[in-house]
Amino acid sequence: MKVAMVSGGGRGLGAAITRRLLDDGWAVSLGLRDLAQAGAFAAPEDRLAAFPFDATDPATAAPWVAGTVARFGRLDALVNNAGILRVVDFEQGSEDDLDALWAVNVKAPFRLIREALPHLRKTGAGRVINIASTDAKRYRAGVSVGYTMSKHALLAMTQAVRFAGWDDGVRATAICPGATDTDLIANVPGVMPKAERLPPETVAGIVAFILTLPNQASVPEFIANPRLESLI
Ligand SMILES: NC(=O)c1ccc[n+]([C@@H]2O[C@H](COP(=O)([O-])OP(=O)(O)OC[C@H]3O[C@@H](n4cnc5c(N)ncnc54)[C@H](OP(=O)(O)O)[C@@H]3O)[C@@H](O)[C@H]2O)c1
Repeated sequence: MKVAMVSGGGRGLGAAITRRLLDDGWAVSLGLRDLAQAGAFAAPEDRLAAFPFDATDPATAAPWVAGTVARFGRLDALVNNAGILRVVDFEQGSEDDLDALWAVNVKAPFRLIREALPHLRKTGAGRVINIASTDAKRYRAGVSVGYTMSKHALLAMTQAVRFAGWDDGVRATAICPGATDTDLIANVPGVMPKAERLPPETVAGIVAFILTLPNQASVPEFIANPRLESLI
């Protein structure tokens, strides 16, 4: 049985990914701030585990990875899903907001990749999925500059993982969805209408599909854009 770690897998897109991977026969190790969120999934004990993980607390990364491997005996995929949106541009938002975006959207995935890579290498077909955004691909007027910068950094990191893990069969993909119907954008002014947003289940399906691909089919990024734009 293959084993995936999903950060922030307790709600929003992370929950959709967790449900889909469980349906597809994976064992899932959730990294959660609130362990009670794991109770929402109907899965037997040998298929689901939850560990404390706070993206702003560096000390929680290594125990989650080690705990996962101790519990399931292997690690096949790391899904860096946990993320935040704070409005930071040249007029609004604080240094603290900028630091929080960097901490959660960039540093935490970096730290988890570092800890997970040795285990992913061992399988000969390890996978890293980073949930980026269309905001990783371009700057769009009106969108948080801080969020956009953090997702661009995550895209760069994904490329670095591809090179670091290539010879050991590790493949990395940045998933770049546009507006997805979760709490993250629920109260964002000017966001696209609900009916036009991507359902989280659609994005989860993309993640699940990419995880089925063999080492020969390396997908550096997958853009799913609900909005008509040039190139992306
Ligand atoms: N929604 C969109 O339009 C959209 C589009 C493109 C990309 N994305 C990306 O998709 C990912 C998932 O977002 P979402 O849309 O599902 O948003 P969401 O509904 O707001 O969920 C955010 C998730 O991240 C977790 N999280 C936030 N801060 C954390 C921290 N310090 N430590 C651990 N977990 C933390 C949350 O856990 P708690 O329950 O503990 O808060 C929650 O599980 C993010 O990386 C986001 O940037 C979203």
